Amino acid sequence: MISKTILQEAFQTIYHQQPEHIYFSPGRINLIGEHIDYHGGFVFPAAIQLGTYGVVSKREDRMYYFYSKQFPSKVPVQVDLQEMTFDASFGWVNYMKGVLDVCLKKGIYFPFGLNIYVDSDLPEASGLSSSASIEMLMAWILKQIYQLPYTRTELALIAQEAERNYLGVQSGIMDQLSIALGKKDHALFMNTSTLEVTYHPLDIKPYRCVIMNTNYQRTLHDSKYNERVKETFEASKRLQEQHPHARLVHLNSEDINAYEPILKDDVLLKRVRHIITEQNRALLFKKALDQHDLFKLASFLNDSHASLKHDYEVTGKQLDVLVEASRKYAIGARMTGAGFGGCAIAFVEDKREHQMIEHVSNVYQQTFGFLPSFYTVELSDGVHDVL
Ligand code: GLA
Repeated sequence: MISKTILQEAFQTIYHQQPEHIYFSPGRINLIGEHIDYHGGFVFPAAIQLGTYGVVSKREDRMYYFYSKQFPSKVPVQVDLQEMTFDASFGWVNYMKGVLDVCLKKGIYFPFGLNIYVDSDLPEASGLSSSASIEMLMAWILKQIYQLPYTRTELALIAQEAERNYLGVQSGIMDQLSIALGKKDHALFMNTSTLEVTYHPLDIKPYRCVIMNTNYQRTLHDSKYNERVKETFEASKRLQEQHPHARLVHLNSEDINAYEPILKDDVLLKRVRHIITEQNRALLFKKALDQHDLFKLASFLNDSHASLKHDYEVTGKQLDVLVEASRKYAIGARMTGAGFGGCAIAFVEDKREHQMIEHVSNVYQQTFGFLPSFYTVELSDGVHDVL
Protein backbone atom coordinates (compact mmCIF):
# COMPACT_ATOMS: atom_id res chain seq x y z
CA MET A 1 0.00 0.00 0.00
CA ILE A 2 1.25 3.49 -0.79
CA SER A 3 0.43 6.09 1.87
CA LYS A 4 -1.74 9.13 1.18
CA THR A 5 1.00 11.45 2.44
CA ILE A 6 3.55 10.07 -0.01
CA LEU A 7 1.08 10.42 -2.88
CA GLN A 8 0.04 13.95 -1.89
CA GLU A 9 3.62 15.14 -1.51
CA ALA A 10 4.67 13.66 -4.83
CA PHE A 11 1.72 15.33 -6.57
CA GLN A 12 2.66 18.64 -5.03
CA THR A 13 6.29 18.33 -6.18
CA ILE A 14 5.21 17.69 -9.78
CA TYR A 15 2.25 20.07 -10.12
CA HIS A 16 2.98 22.71 -7.40
CA GLN A 17 -0.55 22.50 -6.03
CA GLN A 18 -2.60 20.42 -3.58
CA PRO A 19 -4.34 17.37 -5.06
CA GLU A 20 -8.12 17.16 -4.71
CA HIS A 21 -8.64 13.40 -4.98
CA ILE A 22 -6.86 10.05 -4.66
CA TYR A 23 -8.20 6.89 -6.28
CA PHE A 24 -7.09 3.25 -6.21
CA SER A 25 -7.47 0.62 -8.91
CA PRO A 26 -6.36 -2.92 -8.00
CA GLY A 27 -4.59 -5.56 -10.06
CA ARG A 28 -6.03 -9.06 -10.26
CA ILE A 29 -5.12 -12.71 -10.12
CA ASN A 30 -7.08 -15.40 -11.88
CA LEU A 31 -7.65 -18.60 -9.89
CA ILE A 32 -8.81 -20.60 -12.90
CA GLY A 33 -10.58 -20.23 -16.26
CA GLU A 34 -7.67 -19.00 -18.37
CA HIS A 35 -7.93 -17.83 -21.97
CA ILE A 36 -11.61 -18.62 -22.20
CA ASP A 37 -13.12 -15.21 -21.45
CA TYR A 38 -12.98 -14.17 -25.11
CA HIS A 39 -15.19 -17.17 -25.87
CA GLY A 40 -17.73 -16.42 -23.16
CA GLY A 41 -16.42 -19.02 -20.66
CA PHE A 42 -16.46 -19.17 -16.87
CA VAL A 43 -13.51 -17.49 -15.14
CA PHE A 44 -12.62 -17.05 -11.47
CA PRO A 45 -10.53 -13.91 -10.89
CA ALA A 46 -10.10 -11.73 -7.80
CA ALA A 47 -8.93 -8.15 -7.29
CA ILE A 48 -5.78 -7.91 -5.15
CA GLN A 49 -4.21 -5.43 -2.75
CA LEU A 50 -1.50 -4.40 -5.23
CA GLY A 51 -2.61 -1.78 -7.71
CA THR A 52 -2.41 1.66 -9.26
CA TYR A 53 -3.05 4.97 -7.49
CA GLY A 54 -4.23 8.12 -9.24
CA VAL A 55 -3.84 11.54 -7.62
CA VAL A 56 -5.88 14.22 -9.35
CA SER A 57 -6.79 17.89 -9.46
CA LYS A 58 -8.89 19.90 -11.90
CA ARG A 59 -7.42 22.39 -14.37
CA GLU A 60 -8.90 25.60 -15.66
CA ASP A 61 -8.12 24.84 -19.30
CA ARG A 62 -9.14 21.64 -21.13
CA MET A 63 -5.71 20.00 -21.19
CA TYR A 64 -4.73 16.71 -19.52
CA TYR A 65 -1.35 16.20 -17.87
CA PHE A 66 0.01 12.81 -16.83
CA TYR A 67 3.03 11.88 -14.72
CA SER A 68 4.01 8.43 -13.48
CA LYS A 69 6.47 7.60 -10.74
CA GLN A 70 7.33 4.37 -12.57
CA PHE A 71 7.92 6.07 -15.95
CA PRO A 72 9.28 9.48 -14.93
CA SER A 73 9.62 12.21 -17.55
CA LYS A 74 11.17 15.68 -17.20
CA VAL A 75 7.76 17.29 -17.28
CA PRO A 76 4.27 15.76 -17.22
CA VAL A 77 3.04 14.37 -20.55
CA GLN A 78 0.47 16.68 -22.10
CA VAL A 79 -2.62 15.39 -23.91
CA ASP A 80 -4.79 17.67 -26.00
CA LEU A 81 -8.35 16.41 -26.67
CA GLN A 82 -7.98 17.58 -30.28
CA GLU A 83 -5.09 15.14 -30.85
CA MET A 84 -6.22 11.75 -29.67
CA THR A 85 -4.71 9.48 -32.35
CA PHE A 86 -2.71 6.57 -30.90
CA ASP A 87 0.97 7.43 -30.72
CA ALA A 88 3.37 4.77 -29.41
CA SER A 89 5.73 7.45 -28.09
CA PHE A 90 3.15 8.26 -25.38
CA GLY A 91 4.00 4.87 -23.78
CA TRP A 92 2.01 4.15 -20.61
CA VAL A 93 -0.13 7.29 -21.09
CA ASN A 94 -1.85 5.55 -24.02
CA TYR A 95 -3.79 3.36 -21.55
CA MET A 96 -5.35 6.46 -20.01
CA LYS A 97 -5.62 8.30 -23.30
CA GLY A 98 -7.43 5.29 -24.80
CA VAL A 99 -10.17 5.46 -22.16
CA LEU A 100 -10.50 9.21 -22.70
CA ASP A 101 -10.79 8.58 -26.44
CA VAL A 102 -13.57 5.98 -26.02
CA CYS A 103 -15.51 8.48 -23.86
CA LEU A 104 -15.04 11.28 -26.41
CA LYS A 105 -16.33 8.97 -29.15
CA LYS A 106 -19.42 8.35 -27.02
CA GLY A 107 -20.03 12.10 -27.23
CA ILE A 108 -19.10 12.95 -23.64
CA TYR A 109 -18.09 16.60 -23.18
CA PHE A 110 -15.32 17.37 -20.70
CA PRO A 111 -15.56 21.07 -19.73
CA PHE A 112 -12.17 21.19 -17.98
CA GLY A 113 -8.95 19.15 -17.94
CA LEU A 114 -7.01 17.34 -15.19
CA ASN A 115 -3.57 17.02 -13.66
CA ILE A 116 -2.94 13.36 -12.92
CA TYR A 117 -0.10 11.72 -10.97
CA VAL A 118 0.16 7.93 -11.02
CA ASP A 119 2.03 5.62 -8.66
CA SER A 120 1.81 1.84 -8.42
CA ASP A 121 2.91 -1.14 -6.34
CA LEU A 122 1.70 -3.56 -9.01
CA PRO A 123 4.57 -5.04 -11.04
CA GLU A 124 3.87 -4.05 -14.63
CA ALA A 125 3.62 -6.45 -17.57
CA SER A 126 3.61 -9.38 -15.14
CA GLY A 127 0.24 -11.00 -15.74
CA LEU A 128 -1.42 -9.19 -12.81
CA SER A 129 -3.23 -6.88 -15.18
CA SER A 130 -1.37 -3.62 -14.76
CA SER A 131 -2.85 -2.41 -18.05
CA ALA A 132 -6.48 -3.04 -17.07
CA SER A 133 -5.70 -1.53 -13.64
CA ILE A 134 -4.59 1.74 -15.21
CA GLU A 135 -7.46 1.77 -17.71
CA MET A 136 -9.98 1.22 -14.92
CA LEU A 137 -8.27 3.91 -12.86
CA MET A 138 -8.85 6.39 -15.69
CA ALA A 139 -12.44 5.22 -16.22
CA TRP A 140 -13.11 5.69 -12.48
CA ILE A 141 -11.43 9.12 -12.39
CA LEU A 142 -13.62 10.29 -15.28
CA LYS A 143 -16.77 8.85 -13.70
CA GLN A 144 -16.13 10.45 -10.33
CA ILE A 145 -14.90 13.86 -11.49
CA TYR A 146 -17.41 14.44 -14.30
CA GLN A 147 -20.25 12.49 -12.64
CA LEU A 148 -20.65 10.13 -15.60
CA PRO A 149 -23.80 8.01 -15.27
CA TYR A 150 -22.07 4.66 -15.91
CA THR A 151 -22.28 1.51 -13.77
CA ARG A 152 -19.10 -0.35 -12.84
CA THR A 153 -19.84 -2.96 -15.50
CA GLU A 154 -20.26 -0.24 -18.13
CA LEU A 155 -16.93 1.30 -17.10
CA ALA A 156 -15.31 -2.12 -17.54
CA LEU A 157 -16.73 -2.32 -21.06
CA ILE A 158 -15.36 1.17 -21.84
CA ALA A 159 -11.92 0.13 -20.59
CA GLN A 160 -12.07 -3.09 -22.62
CA GLU A 161 -12.98 -1.08 -25.71
CA ALA A 162 -9.90 1.08 -25.14
CA GLU A 163 -7.73 -2.04 -24.83
CA ARG A 164 -9.14 -3.51 -28.03
CA ASN A 165 -9.61 -0.54 -30.31
CA TYR A 166 -6.99 1.89 -29.03
CA LEU A 167 -4.22 -0.40 -27.76
CA GLY A 168 -4.95 -3.18 -30.27
CA VAL A 169 -5.04 -6.15 -27.86
CA GLN A 170 -8.14 -8.27 -28.46
CA SER A 171 -8.61 -9.01 -24.77
CA GLY A 172 -11.64 -10.51 -23.06
CA ILE A 173 -13.56 -8.76 -20.26
CA MET A 174 -12.14 -10.66 -17.25
CA ASP A 175 -9.50 -8.16 -16.15
CA GLN A 176 -11.50 -4.97 -16.41
CA LEU A 177 -14.61 -6.53 -14.86
CA SER A 178 -12.77 -8.06 -11.90
CA ILE A 179 -11.10 -4.70 -11.21
CA ALA A 180 -14.49 -2.96 -11.48
CA LEU A 181 -16.41 -5.42 -9.28
CA GLY A 182 -13.77 -6.81 -6.88
CA LYS A 183 -14.76 -7.47 -3.26
CA LYS A 184 -12.51 -7.75 -0.22
CA ASP A 185 -11.67 -11.38 0.71
CA HIS A 186 -13.72 -12.72 -2.21
CA ALA A 187 -13.06 -14.17 -5.64
CA LEU A 188 -15.50 -13.51 -8.47
CA PHE A 189 -17.02 -16.40 -10.37
CA MET A 190 -17.82 -14.73 -13.66
CA ASN A 191 -19.89 -15.79 -16.61
CA THR A 192 -18.13 -13.81 -19.36
CA SER A 193 -21.01 -14.43 -21.72
CA THR A 194 -23.68 -12.72 -19.58
CA LEU A 195 -21.27 -10.71 -17.33
CA GLU A 196 -23.02 -12.16 -14.26
CA VAL A 197 -20.80 -12.44 -11.20
CA THR A 198 -21.16 -14.34 -7.92
CA TYR A 199 -18.83 -13.79 -4.96
CA HIS A 200 -17.02 -16.61 -3.14
CA PRO A 201 -14.78 -16.24 -0.08
CA LEU A 202 -11.33 -17.63 -0.83
CA ASP A 203 -11.16 -19.64 2.36
CA ILE A 204 -8.32 -22.14 1.94
CA LYS A 205 -6.94 -22.22 5.48
CA PRO A 206 -4.44 -23.57 6.58
CA TYR A 207 -3.16 -22.87 3.06
CA ARG A 208 -2.62 -19.50 1.46
CA CYS A 209 -2.31 -18.21 -2.05
CA VAL A 210 1.13 -16.87 -2.97
CA ILE A 211 1.96 -14.99 -6.18
CA MET A 212 5.28 -15.91 -7.78
CA ASN A 213 6.63 -13.43 -10.33
CA THR A 214 9.06 -14.72 -12.98
CA ASN A 215 10.45 -11.17 -13.31
CA TYR A 216 10.88 -12.16 -16.91
CA GLN A 217 10.36 -9.32 -19.32
CA ARG A 218 7.62 -10.51 -21.60
CA THR A 219 8.27 -10.04 -25.30
CA LEU A 220 5.76 -10.35 -28.12
CA HIS A 221 3.12 -10.71 -25.43
CA ASP A 222 0.40 -8.76 -27.24
CA SER A 223 0.99 -10.34 -30.62
CA LYS A 224 1.02 -13.88 -29.16
CA TYR A 225 -2.18 -13.12 -27.26
CA ASN A 226 -3.82 -11.89 -30.46
CA GLU A 227 -2.53 -15.01 -32.23
CA ARG A 228 -4.36 -17.30 -29.77
CA VAL A 229 -7.52 -15.22 -30.14
CA LYS A 230 -7.26 -15.51 -33.92
CA GLU A 231 -6.60 -19.26 -33.89
CA THR A 232 -9.52 -20.03 -31.63
CA PHE A 233 -11.93 -17.78 -33.53
CA GLU A 234 -10.90 -19.66 -36.65
CA ALA A 235 -11.68 -22.94 -34.85
CA SER A 236 -15.03 -21.53 -33.79
CA LYS A 237 -15.79 -20.46 -37.37
CA ARG A 238 -15.00 -23.92 -38.74
CA LEU A 239 -17.19 -25.50 -36.12
CA GLN A 240 -20.09 -23.15 -36.80
CA GLU A 241 -19.96 -23.89 -40.53
CA GLN A 242 -21.34 -27.32 -39.55
CA HIS A 243 -23.08 -26.52 -36.27
CA PRO A 244 -24.25 -22.89 -36.53
CA HIS A 245 -25.11 -22.48 -32.84
CA ALA A 246 -22.14 -24.33 -31.33
CA ARG A 247 -19.78 -22.44 -29.01
CA LEU A 248 -16.36 -23.74 -28.08
CA VAL A 249 -16.97 -23.42 -24.34
CA HIS A 250 -20.11 -25.56 -24.59
CA LEU A 251 -18.51 -28.54 -26.31
CA ASN A 252 -18.21 -31.84 -24.51
CA SER A 253 -14.66 -32.90 -23.67
CA GLU A 254 -15.45 -36.56 -24.28
CA ASP A 255 -16.17 -35.79 -27.93
CA ILE A 256 -12.96 -33.88 -28.59
CA ASN A 257 -11.73 -36.32 -31.25
CA ALA A 258 -15.01 -36.01 -33.10
CA TYR A 259 -14.05 -32.42 -33.91
CA GLU A 260 -10.87 -33.41 -35.68
CA PRO A 261 -12.44 -33.75 -39.13
CA ILE A 262 -14.18 -30.40 -38.64
CA LEU A 263 -11.17 -28.45 -37.40
CA LYS A 264 -8.78 -30.16 -39.83
CA ASP A 265 -5.75 -28.99 -37.91
CA ASP A 266 -3.84 -30.48 -34.97
CA VAL A 267 -2.94 -27.12 -33.48
CA LEU A 268 -6.55 -25.94 -33.52
CA LEU A 269 -7.60 -29.22 -31.96
CA LYS A 270 -5.19 -28.66 -29.06
CA ARG A 271 -6.40 -25.09 -28.56
CA VAL A 272 -10.01 -26.26 -28.51
CA ARG A 273 -9.18 -29.06 -26.09
CA HIS A 274 -7.80 -26.46 -23.67
CA ILE A 275 -10.92 -24.32 -23.96
CA ILE A 276 -13.29 -27.24 -23.36
CA THR A 277 -11.35 -28.71 -20.44
CA GLU A 278 -10.66 -25.32 -18.82
CA GLN A 279 -14.35 -24.41 -18.87
CA ASN A 280 -15.09 -27.69 -17.13
CA ARG A 281 -12.30 -27.16 -14.57
CA ALA A 282 -13.59 -23.68 -13.74
CA LEU A 283 -17.00 -25.13 -12.87
CA LEU A 284 -15.53 -27.99 -10.83
CA PHE A 285 -13.15 -25.59 -9.07
CA LYS A 286 -16.09 -23.48 -7.90
CA LYS A 287 -17.80 -26.58 -6.53
CA ALA A 288 -14.64 -27.70 -4.73
CA LEU A 289 -14.14 -24.21 -3.25
CA ASP A 290 -17.69 -24.16 -1.93
CA GLN A 291 -17.10 -27.63 -0.42
CA HIS A 292 -13.71 -26.61 0.96
CA ASP A 293 -12.10 -29.55 -0.84
CA LEU A 294 -8.56 -28.19 -0.94
CA PHE A 295 -6.87 -31.13 -2.59
CA LYS A 296 -9.34 -31.06 -5.45
CA LEU A 297 -8.78 -27.32 -5.83
CA ALA A 298 -5.06 -27.90 -6.01
CA SER A 299 -5.37 -30.66 -8.58
CA PHE A 300 -7.43 -28.35 -10.83
CA LEU A 301 -4.69 -25.72 -10.60
CA ASN A 302 -2.13 -28.31 -11.68
CA ASP A 303 -4.29 -29.62 -14.53
CA SER A 304 -4.96 -26.09 -15.74
CA HIS A 305 -1.23 -25.33 -15.92
CA ALA A 306 -0.59 -28.56 -17.85
CA SER A 307 -3.31 -27.67 -20.33
CA LEU A 308 -1.96 -24.12 -20.78
CA LYS A 309 1.51 -25.58 -21.27
CA HIS A 310 0.79 -28.42 -23.69
CA ASP A 311 -2.45 -27.50 -25.44
CA TYR A 312 -2.60 -23.69 -25.36
CA GLU A 313 1.20 -23.25 -25.32
CA VAL A 314 1.31 -19.97 -23.41
CA THR A 315 3.43 -20.79 -20.36
CA GLY A 316 7.11 -20.62 -21.36
CA LYS A 317 10.23 -21.91 -19.57
CA GLN A 318 10.26 -19.39 -16.73
CA LEU A 319 6.69 -20.08 -15.62
CA ASP A 320 7.14 -23.83 -15.99
CA VAL A 321 10.26 -23.90 -13.79
CA LEU A 322 8.62 -21.70 -11.16
CA VAL A 323 5.46 -23.78 -11.00
CA GLU A 324 7.30 -27.10 -11.05
CA ALA A 325 9.70 -26.07 -8.26
CA SER A 326 6.92 -24.68 -6.07
CA ARG A 327 5.12 -28.03 -6.06
CA LYS A 328 7.76 -29.49 -3.78
CA TYR A 329 5.92 -27.58 -1.03
CA ALA A 330 2.73 -26.24 -2.61
CA ILE A 331 -0.30 -28.51 -3.06
CA GLY A 332 -1.09 -26.86 -6.40
CA ALA A 333 0.25 -24.14 -8.69
CA ARG A 334 -0.42 -22.61 -12.08
CA MET A 335 0.36 -19.61 -14.21
CA THR A 336 -2.15 -16.77 -13.90
CA GLY A 337 -3.23 -14.27 -16.56
CA ALA A 338 -2.19 -14.30 -20.20
CA GLY A 339 1.11 -16.18 -19.68
CA PHE A 340 4.23 -15.84 -21.87
CA GLY A 341 6.15 -14.99 -18.69
CA GLY A 342 4.48 -13.03 -15.91
CA CYS A 343 3.16 -14.57 -12.69
CA ALA A 344 1.99 -17.87 -11.25
CA ILE A 345 -0.03 -18.65 -8.11
CA ALA A 346 0.60 -21.44 -5.60
CA PHE A 347 -1.52 -22.77 -2.73
CA VAL A 348 0.88 -23.52 0.10
CA GLU A 349 0.46 -24.31 3.78
CA ASP A 350 1.21 -21.26 5.97
CA LYS A 351 4.07 -22.98 7.74
CA ARG A 352 5.74 -24.10 4.49
CA GLU A 353 5.59 -20.76 2.68
CA HIS A 354 9.14 -19.77 3.61
CA GLN A 355 10.61 -23.11 2.62
CA MET A 356 8.80 -22.89 -0.70
CA ILE A 357 10.09 -19.39 -1.39
CA GLU A 358 13.64 -20.40 -0.56
CA HIS A 359 13.51 -23.54 -2.67
CA VAL A 360 11.87 -21.89 -5.69
CA SER A 361 14.31 -18.96 -5.52
CA ASN A 362 17.31 -21.34 -5.52
CA VAL A 363 16.08 -23.47 -8.39
CA TYR A 364 15.03 -20.44 -10.42
CA GLN A 365 18.25 -18.54 -9.88
CA GLN A 366 20.34 -21.59 -10.79
CA THR A 367 18.35 -22.05 -13.99
CA PHE A 368 18.00 -18.46 -15.21
CA GLY A 369 20.56 -16.44 -13.26
CA PHE A 370 18.06 -14.05 -11.68
CA LEU A 371 15.53 -14.21 -8.86
CA PRO A 372 11.75 -14.39 -8.91
CA SER A 373 9.62 -12.27 -6.50
CA PHE A 374 6.84 -13.38 -4.17
CA TYR A 375 3.74 -11.65 -2.78
CA THR A 376 1.16 -12.99 -0.36
CA VAL A 377 -2.28 -12.39 -1.78
CA GLU A 378 -4.94 -10.31 -0.09
CA LEU A 379 -8.17 -10.00 -2.01
CA SER A 380 -9.31 -6.41 -2.36
CA ASP A 381 -12.31 -4.26 -3.26
CA GLY A 382 -12.63 -3.05 -6.83
CA VAL A 383 -11.60 0.41 -8.03
CA HIS A 384 -12.51 3.04 -5.40
CA ASP A 385 -11.91 6.49 -3.88
CA VAL A 386 -9.12 6.83 -1.30
CA LEU A 387 -9.56 10.56 -0.66
C1 GLA B 1 -5.36 -11.33 -20.36
C2 GLA B 1 -6.65 -10.75 -20.94
C3 GLA B 1 -7.88 -11.42 -20.31
C4 GLA B 1 -7.78 -12.94 -20.37
C5 GLA B 1 -6.42 -13.42 -19.85
C6 GLA B 1 -6.23 -14.90 -20.03
O1 GLA B 1 -5.22 -10.99 -19.02
O2 GLA B 1 -6.72 -9.37 -20.75
O3 GLA B 1 -9.04 -10.95 -20.96
O4 GLA B 1 -8.01 -13.41 -21.67
O5 GLA B 1 -5.35 -12.75 -20.49
O6 GLA B 1 -7.17 -15.61 -19.33
